[in-house]
Amino acid sequence: MSTILVTGGAGFIGSHTCLVLLEAGHDLVVIDNLCNSSEESLRRVEGLSDKSFVFEKIDLLDQPALEQVFVTHSIDAVIHFAGLKAVGESVEDPLWYWRNNVAGTLNLVDAMNRADVRDLVFSSSSTVYGMPEELPVTEAHPLGPVSPYGKTKLAVEDLLRDVAASKPGWRVALLRYFNPVGAHPSGEIGEDPTGIPNNLMPFVMQVAVGRRERVAVFGSDYDTPDGTGIRDYIHVMDLAEGHLAAVERLERFEGCEAVNLGTGQGYSVLDVVRAASGAAGREIPYELVPRRPGDVAAVWSDPGLAKAKLGWQALRGLDEMCRDSWHFQSRNPHGFAKT
Ligand code: NAD
Ligand code: UFG
Repeated sequence: MSTILVTGGAGFIGSHTCLVLLEAGHDLVVIDNLCNSSEESLRRVEGLSDKSFVFEKIDLLDQPALEQVFVTHSIDAVIHFAGLKAVGESVEDPLWYWRNNVAGTLNLVDAMNRADVRDLVFSSSSTVYGMPEELPVTEAHPLGPVSPYGKTKLAVEDLLRDVAASKPGWRVALLRYFNPVGAHPSGEIGEDPTGIPNNLMPFVMQVAVGRRERVAVFGSDYDTPDGTGIRDYIHVMDLAEGHLAAVERLERFEGCEAVNLGTGQGYSVLDVVRAASGAAGREIPYELVPRRPGDVAAVWSDPGLAKAKLGWQALRGLDEMCRDSWHFQSRNPHGFAKT
């Protein structure tokens, strides 16, 4: 069992992964600046796992504090979630995104290098593929992100490829997630976006719980069976288990390698609204509105490499994703802060 440093561990995917790592017997050091999360998620992870771990409120841009983490603790591997992820916000303030996501990762890798820690799992995104040229999307698909957010993800991937090639010993897994949704089945931890949700599932859930009136379905004239956009939604518990598999099998990564984490199955916006209505036991109102600029009609993954390399595949379907999202939302109608 090893000691794993988790950056951004208080966030949506980080908190679920922390729980899975603790349950697998690993020791954790979690750092987060809480810019998009609350310490309450970590308290709940401790409650669910009945285990404690170190938490330090640290910003990745605070290089001395980051260096000190590697001096104080004997770290074996790092899982790096910390980053900003809102596409629209990245268009409005690209400097913030480049500084936080790219300079933040530079500081982290620098600190790892000094401490002789060379095992890293990085949160990348399917957004690095840009407009899909063929489906399903394999890791060999050309890279061409469109938004500043996506460009910071590709820049970090490039940085890590260069570092891993510079000297032997680095083992880096670039995990390209498709569309993470769902929550831990206990309903204790889940996705708690601040402000108006940008993503479909949290928006649908806020309509279901009565915080918003109706879902705006962006585009109903796509070349898809029901005219709405198709995505590869993946349950956050599957994703968390994918991280456990990756960090425990880093010996299979020589240098730096990318792996898709998706289900391989696409669902339309209306499929999601229907499944969520079933899970919530109530009709979720929606209206068809024009397309959202920058959206693609359909994208889903080829998850074959993850299965071959990590021995991992997603197990949970759309109904389970909606059931668990709803369980979290209905138990925490206003998220972590005001339950
Ligand atoms: P999240 O916002 O819930 O979690 C990110 C965490 O990082 C937050 O707790 C935030 O406070 C922290 N953080 C941000 N900048 C920091 C900094 N400079 N120093 C310390 N902590 C910092 O997001 P998430 O959905 O859990 O995503 C985790 C990672 O996965 C992100 O890197 C994101 O880009 C990536 N990703 C997410 C999705 C998605 O749809 N959720 C898809 C693909 C990739
Ligand atoms: N959608 C709606 N109404 C909404 C929100 C979304 O109809 O209120 C539609 C979109 O048009 C799209 C689908 O629901 O067809 C999914 O949209 P999301 O915003 O949930 O997800 P995206 O696929 O657009 O992008 C997300 C993240 C990106 C990330 C990508 C792949 O926002 O940062 O998944 O991981 F890169």
